[in-house]
Amino acid sequence: MKNLTLWKGRSSVGEMVSGVPRFWSLEGCEGCGKSTQAARIKAYLEQQGHEVVLTREPGGTPTGEMIRNMLQHHASGEDIAPSTEVLLFAASRAQHVRHVIRPALEAGKWVICDRFVDSSLAYQSGGRGISLEDVLKVNAFALEDCWPIKTLWFDLPVEQALERVSDRGEAPDRFESEQLAFHQRVALTYQSLADRFAHRFVRIDASRGVEEVFAQVLDAVAEHTGSRGL
Ligand code: TYD
Repeated sequence: MKNLTLWKGRSSVGEMVSGVPRFWSLEGCEGCGKSTQAARIKAYLEQQGHEVVLTREPGGTPTGEMIRNMLQHHASGEDIAPSTEVLLFAASRAQHVRHVIRPALEAGKWVICDRFVDSSLAYQSGGRGISLEDVLKVNAFALEDCWPIKTLWFDLPVEQALERVSDRGEAPDRFESEQLAFHQRVALTYQSLADRFAHRFVRIDASRGVEEVFAQVLDAVAEHTGSRGL
């Protein structure tokens, strides 16, 4: 990436990794409360005088929103192959990086992204069974080196998460309609991603109330901004 300073280091398993300062992603299973926290992080950073772009995946661009609709409310009755799913999410991400995330970061803004590449690793690899390395390879092409420097992982027991989703009383989408075992595989994969990418994953206990969760989030933000003078 030409105009961006990249942080470079090694992951806990020794591979070279990089991240863009001011780029954070939020991850976790359905119902984990990350969207509520995303809005709060944005408000907090703005109070500190930063410009913040809050965005989400799938979506974040008009093309991405079309892909989101295809993936979540697929109406043709045709099964979407797991490999197609990987590629569609990655296509949405490539568009998002090129047209929203990268320009914002290059302009010195913060970017808070509600779901990013780790959702593909957790759902398409853990959930659907595509190898992690294949999902990583496809996404490396989409990301153009634009990795988040921090990933807040909102960890919540699967049963509690699904209860929260059903309490909303909305019609479930394709992912929410999956079996318990699918969601358990997704949750386990997040745990293993937190180990593999320990340099950027921060575990947040999402089983607490909104205020307590936000206190944990603020600790993570303060630690990061303080240590980097951002
Ligand atoms: P969304 O309504 O945004 O869910 P949430 O509010 O939980 O974030 O739906 C996005 C769904 O798409 C969610 O079930 C996870 C899934 N998903 C993937 O499977 N892979 C991906 O790469 C992304 C970004 C999302």
